[in-house]
Amino acid sequence: MSCTIETASDRDYLHVAALDRISWPIAPDLFIPDGEHIWRIWCDMATLLVARRPGDSDQLSESGDIAGALVMFPTNASELCLHKIMVHPECRGSGIGTQLMRAGLARANLPVLLTVDPSNNAAVTLYQNFGFDVRERIDGYYRPHEHRLIMVHPGPN
Ligand SMILES: CC(C)(COP(=O)(O)OP(=O)(O)OC[C@H]1O[C@@H](n2cnc3c(N)ncnc32)[C@H](O)[C@@H]1OP(=O)(O)O)[C@@H](O)C(=O)NCCC(=O)NCCS
Repeated sequence: MSCTIETASDRDYLHVAALDRISWPIAPDLFIPDGEHIWRIWCDMATLLVARRPGDSDQLSESGDIAGALVMFPTNASELCLHKIMVHPECRGSGIGTQLMRAGLARANLPVLLTVDPSNNAAVTLYQNFGFDVRERIDGYYRPHEHRLIMVHPGPN
Protein backbone atom coordinates (compact mmCIF):
# COMPACT_ATOMS: atom_id res chain seq x y z
CA MET A 1 0.00 0.00 0.00
CA SER A 2 1.44 3.34 -1.04
CA CYS A 3 1.53 5.99 1.70
CA THR A 4 3.60 9.06 2.36
CA ILE A 5 4.79 9.70 5.90
CA GLU A 6 4.62 13.36 6.80
CA THR A 7 4.18 15.73 9.71
CA ALA A 8 0.49 16.27 10.47
CA SER A 9 -0.98 19.63 9.58
CA ASP A 10 -3.21 21.44 12.08
CA ARG A 11 -6.21 20.45 9.92
CA ASP A 12 -5.60 16.72 10.42
CA TYR A 13 -6.57 16.48 14.06
CA LEU A 14 -10.21 15.40 13.62
CA HIS A 15 -9.17 12.67 11.20
CA VAL A 16 -6.44 11.45 13.55
CA ALA A 17 -8.88 11.48 16.47
CA ALA A 18 -11.28 9.40 14.34
CA LEU A 19 -8.47 6.98 13.50
CA ASP A 20 -7.78 6.66 17.24
CA ARG A 21 -11.41 5.58 17.81
CA ILE A 22 -11.33 3.14 14.86
CA SER A 23 -7.96 1.54 15.55
CA TRP A 24 -8.49 -0.07 18.92
CA PRO A 25 -10.77 -2.69 20.46
CA ILE A 26 -14.22 -1.13 20.66
CA ALA A 27 -15.25 -2.52 24.04
CA PRO A 28 -15.13 0.45 26.42
CA ASP A 29 -13.56 -1.66 29.13
CA LEU A 30 -10.59 -2.29 26.82
CA PHE A 31 -9.72 1.17 25.56
CA ILE A 32 -10.28 4.89 26.19
CA PRO A 33 -9.49 7.05 23.11
CA ASP A 34 -7.75 10.41 23.37
CA GLY A 35 -10.01 13.41 22.72
CA GLU A 36 -10.04 15.81 19.78
CA HIS A 37 -8.61 18.72 21.77
CA ILE A 38 -5.42 16.91 22.70
CA TRP A 39 -4.90 15.79 19.09
CA ARG A 40 -5.19 19.46 18.04
CA ILE A 41 -2.57 20.44 20.62
CA TRP A 42 -0.27 17.60 19.55
CA CYS A 43 -0.41 18.94 15.97
CA ASP A 44 1.46 22.01 17.27
CA MET A 45 3.41 20.75 20.26
CA ALA A 46 4.39 17.13 19.64
CA THR A 47 5.91 15.06 16.87
CA LEU A 48 2.74 13.92 15.12
CA LEU A 49 3.36 11.94 11.95
CA VAL A 50 0.65 10.67 9.62
CA ALA A 51 0.66 8.04 6.88
CA ARG A 52 -1.32 9.68 4.12
CA ARG A 53 -2.92 8.01 1.12
CA PRO A 54 -2.93 10.80 -1.46
CA GLY A 55 -6.12 11.20 -3.46
CA ASP A 56 -7.93 8.67 -1.30
CA SER A 57 -9.89 10.93 1.00
CA ASP A 58 -13.16 8.97 0.92
CA GLN A 59 -11.79 5.49 1.16
CA LEU A 60 -11.06 5.41 4.86
CA SER A 61 -14.30 7.23 5.78
CA GLU A 62 -13.99 8.90 9.15
CA SER A 63 -10.22 9.18 9.09
CA GLY A 64 -10.15 10.76 5.62
CA ASP A 65 -6.90 10.09 3.78
CA ILE A 66 -5.03 9.14 6.96
CA ALA A 67 -4.13 5.46 7.19
CA GLY A 68 -1.87 5.67 10.21
CA ALA A 69 -0.38 7.98 12.82
CA LEU A 70 2.38 8.21 15.44
CA VAL A 71 2.63 10.73 18.27
CA MET A 72 5.73 11.33 20.38
CA PHE A 73 6.74 14.08 22.84
CA PRO A 74 9.43 14.82 25.43
CA THR A 75 9.00 13.72 29.05
CA ASN A 76 10.54 15.44 32.05
CA ALA A 77 13.04 12.58 32.37
CA SER A 78 15.28 13.19 29.33
CA GLU A 79 13.34 10.69 27.28
CA LEU A 80 10.74 10.84 24.56
CA CYS A 81 7.36 9.21 25.10
CA LEU A 82 6.03 7.48 22.01
CA HIS A 83 2.44 7.73 23.16
CA LYS A 84 0.71 6.06 20.20
CA ILE A 85 1.27 4.39 16.87
CA MET A 86 -1.80 3.13 15.03
CA VAL A 87 -2.81 1.95 11.58
CA HIS A 88 -6.34 1.78 10.17
CA PRO A 89 -7.64 -1.83 10.45
CA GLU A 90 -8.10 -2.02 6.66
CA CYS A 91 -4.46 -1.05 6.07
CA ARG A 92 -2.57 -3.31 8.49
CA GLY A 93 0.09 -5.82 7.59
CA SER A 94 1.47 -3.86 4.66
CA GLY A 95 4.35 -2.09 6.38
CA ILE A 96 2.73 1.23 7.35
CA GLY A 97 3.46 0.73 11.05
CA THR A 98 7.08 -0.03 10.14
CA GLN A 99 7.27 3.12 7.97
CA LEU A 100 5.84 5.28 10.76
CA MET A 101 8.20 3.83 13.36
CA ARG A 102 11.23 4.31 11.11
CA ALA A 103 10.27 7.95 10.54
CA GLY A 104 9.59 8.53 14.25
CA LEU A 105 12.90 7.07 15.40
CA ALA A 106 14.74 9.09 12.73
CA ARG A 107 13.45 12.21 14.54
CA ALA A 108 14.34 10.94 18.03
CA ASN A 109 17.21 12.76 19.73
CA LEU A 110 16.79 10.95 23.06
CA PRO A 111 15.89 7.45 24.27
CA VAL A 112 12.28 6.58 23.43
CA LEU A 113 9.90 5.08 25.98
CA LEU A 114 6.50 3.56 25.33
CA THR A 115 3.92 1.41 27.07
CA VAL A 116 2.13 -1.52 25.48
CA ASP A 117 -0.44 -4.13 26.43
CA PRO A 118 1.59 -7.33 26.97
CA SER A 119 -0.97 -9.28 24.88
CA ASN A 120 -0.67 -6.93 21.86
CA ASN A 121 1.49 -9.25 19.74
CA ALA A 122 1.49 -7.05 16.62
CA ALA A 123 2.74 -4.01 18.52
CA VAL A 124 5.30 -5.90 20.62
CA THR A 125 6.69 -7.50 17.44
CA LEU A 126 6.93 -4.10 15.75
CA TYR A 127 8.77 -2.62 18.74
CA GLN A 128 11.17 -5.55 19.07
CA ASN A 129 11.94 -5.30 15.35
CA PHE A 130 13.23 -1.78 16.01
CA GLY A 131 15.30 -2.72 19.07
CA PHE A 132 12.98 -1.76 21.93
CA ASP A 133 13.62 -3.75 25.13
CA VAL A 134 11.28 -4.36 28.05
CA ARG A 135 12.30 -2.22 31.04
CA GLU A 136 9.44 -3.18 33.34
CA ARG A 137 5.95 -4.68 33.52
CA ILE A 138 3.38 -2.75 35.55
CA ASP A 139 0.13 -4.56 36.28
CA GLY A 140 -2.89 -2.24 36.52
CA TYR A 141 -0.94 0.60 34.88
CA TYR A 142 -4.22 2.21 33.79
CA ARG A 143 -7.35 0.63 35.20
CA PRO A 144 -6.90 -2.54 37.30
CA HIS A 145 -7.27 -4.83 34.25
CA GLU A 146 -5.04 -2.74 31.96
CA HIS A 147 -1.47 -3.97 32.34
CA ARG A 148 1.46 -2.49 30.45
CA LEU A 149 5.02 -3.32 29.47
CA ILE A 150 7.34 -0.31 29.61
CA MET A 151 9.65 -0.65 26.58
CA VAL A 152 12.64 1.54 25.78
CA HIS A 153 14.68 2.25 22.67
CA PRO A 154 18.19 3.64 23.29
CA GLY A 155 17.76 6.48 20.78
CA PRO A 156 20.57 7.79 18.60
CA ASN A 157 24.01 6.11 18.83
C1 LIG B 1 0.64 -2.36 15.83
C2 LIG B 1 0.28 -1.77 14.44
C3 LIG B 1 0.57 -0.26 14.50
C4 LIG B 1 1.16 -2.41 13.38
O1 LIG B 1 0.90 -1.76 12.15
P1 LIG B 1 1.07 -2.53 10.74
O2 LIG B 1 1.05 -1.50 9.67
O3 LIG B 1 0.10 -3.64 10.64
O4 LIG B 1 2.57 -3.11 10.91
P2 LIG B 1 3.52 -3.68 9.78
O5 LIG B 1 2.74 -4.15 8.61
O6 LIG B 1 4.60 -2.67 9.55
O7 LIG B 1 4.13 -4.93 10.54
C5 LIG B 1 5.02 -4.74 11.64
C6 LIG B 1 5.43 -6.07 12.25
O8 LIG B 1 4.35 -6.55 13.07
C7 LIG B 1 4.08 -7.91 12.72
N1 LIG B 1 2.67 -8.17 12.91
C8 LIG B 1 1.65 -7.56 12.29
N2 LIG B 1 0.49 -8.07 12.76
C9 LIG B 1 0.82 -9.01 13.67
C10 LIG B 1 0.08 -9.89 14.51
N3 LIG B 1 -1.27 -9.87 14.52
N4 LIG B 1 0.77 -10.71 15.35
C11 LIG B 1 2.11 -10.71 15.38
N5 LIG B 1 2.88 -9.90 14.61
C12 LIG B 1 2.22 -9.08 13.75
C13 LIG B 1 4.46 -7.99 11.26
O9 LIG B 1 4.70 -9.33 10.92
C14 LIG B 1 5.70 -7.14 11.20
O10 LIG B 1 6.84 -7.88 11.63
P3 LIG B 1 7.85 -8.54 10.57
O11 LIG B 1 8.34 -7.36 9.72
O12 LIG B 1 8.89 -9.13 11.45
O13 LIG B 1 7.01 -9.50 9.79
C15 LIG B 1 -1.22 -2.06 14.08
O14 LIG B 1 -1.46 -3.43 14.24
C16 LIG B 1 -2.24 -1.27 14.91
O15 LIG B 1 -2.56 -0.14 14.59
N6 LIG B 1 -2.78 -1.90 15.98
C17 LIG B 1 -3.82 -1.23 16.79
C18 LIG B 1 -3.23 -0.09 17.58
C19 LIG B 1 -2.07 -0.57 18.43
O16 LIG B 1 -2.14 -1.62 19.05
N7 LIG B 1 -0.98 0.26 18.49
C20 LIG B 1 0.20 -0.08 19.25
C21 LIG B 1 0.09 0.21 20.66
S1 LIG B 1 0.40 1.95 21.01
